[in-house]
Amino acid sequence: MASYYSSLFTPNTATTLGLWVFLLLIGIGMVSAQLSSNFYATSCPNALSTIRSAVNSAISKEARMGASLLRLHFHDCFVNGCDASVLLDDTPNFIGEKSAGPNINSLRGLGVIDTIKSQVESVCPGVVSCADILAVAARDSVVALGGPSWTVLLGRRDSTTASFSAADDGNNIPAPTMSLTGLVSAFSSKGLSVKDMVALLGSHTIGQARCTNFRTRIYNETNINSSFAKSLKASCPSSGGDNNLADLDPTSPTIFDTAFFKNLLQQKSLLDSDQQLMNAHSTYSLVNNYSSNRETFFKDFGRAMIKMGNISPLTGTSGEIRPNCRKTNQARARTQVFVISCSLSE
Ligand code: HEM
Ligand SMILES: *[C@@H]1O[C@H](CO)[C@@H](O)[C@H](O)[C@H]1NC(C)=O
Ligand SMILES: *[C@@H]1O[C@H](CO)[C@@H](O)[C@H](O)[C@H]1NC(C)=O
Ligand SMILES: *[C@@H]1O[C@H](CO)[C@@H](O)[C@H](O)[C@H]1NC(C)=O
Repeated sequence: MASYYSSLFTPNTATTLGLWVFLLLIGIGMVSAQLSSNFYATSCPNALSTIRSAVNSAISKEARMGASLLRLHFHDCFVNGCDASVLLDDTPNFIGEKSAGPNINSLRGLGVIDTIKSQVESVCPGVVSCADILAVAARDSVVALGGPSWTVLLGRRDSTTASFSAADDGNNIPAPTMSLTGLVSAFSSKGLSVKDMVALLGSHTIGQARCTNFRTRIYNETNINSSFAKSLKASCPSSGGDNNLADLDPTSPTIFDTAFFKNLLQQKSLLDSDQQLMNAHSTYSLVNNYSSNRETFFKDFGRAMIKMGNISPLTGTSGEIRPNCRKTNQARARTQVFVISCSLSE
């Protein structure tokens, strides 16, 4: 009888125990991989207020900077996760992301991030990641321009490499010429729904675009208000002037509001990708809702920003905290060794 029971139960008990240990380990793994809102509460209690004042001061000098900082976080998260890879300068080992198609002649706010980082380093050296600074600066920018607030989850670490090819791959950061189906699948591959996508594109209620990104639309497309198209042609000629700028939302370019969605209903969006949101029922109904329902847009936007900020962060012991957002710690060490050996040889 005893042998019957033991032969029946012992393996099962062992399996059950093994399963619990397994689940426990997974649980611990998940906890350590998760971001949290109070990550710097004891290690750097002034981190958030330091970032906020620096963002506010940059935006008070130039309102568009809020848009540029928001976009930096997007371009970081959509390329191998929110790991500040976008901020790395080129090195002998890799070409960084700054010269990739979506970023070249376009990415802004890098100097502001340097300023924020040096202020944060002076209050808590080596503690706050560049990836978290990007996430907080994006939220503070939206708030400064009149948009919603949300609780930013923290604890991301910084990458030790960057990828030109991943940043240049249109399946990561979509191009404004991409089809609606392509846009939906690009967002879906990052774990973001159609609703997240439409809400996040509401970001185009602030900031500017270059002529090269809307030329075809104003000269050749039919789903555009003709007087709106005409008004843009003066500063965006049919050839030349590629870097001439126009507001993504001409009605209130520095206010984070629902105007972007109202513009879509009137065929007055600057980018073809944005106007395409009118072409499918699922996206149209969200546009229509957000255009007259600021509360819903703001709530969905905040939620979608948190989801975007959760894309593959480096946590625990992966990655590092870079004291200089432009350089990996290894690259900094190399420069320091070089400086020391130069001064020794003098
Ligand atoms: C379908 C996906 C998207 C496409 C095709 C797209 C495309 C663009 C383009 C072409 C520009 C103008 C760049 C230039 O001409 O230099 C731009 C600007 C901008 N984008 Fe997007 N974008 C997308 C999604 C997003 C998302 C998800 C966010 C934020 C969460 C965002 C935030 C911004 C902001 C704030 C600007 C203005 C930046 C500035 O003035 O410096 N975009 N986008
Ligand atoms: C508009 O379309 C015509 C005919 O397809 C083409 O030749 C021209 O280059 C296009 N213009 C722009 C600005 O895309
Ligand atoms: C285009 O926009 C102008 C100016 O807002 C407006 O008067 C006109 O009715 C619009 N045209 C169409 C076809 O919607
Ligand atoms: C927008 O959607 C929200 C949430 O689904 C709903 O409560 C609200 O009534 C809708 N508003 C409009 C104007 O469609």
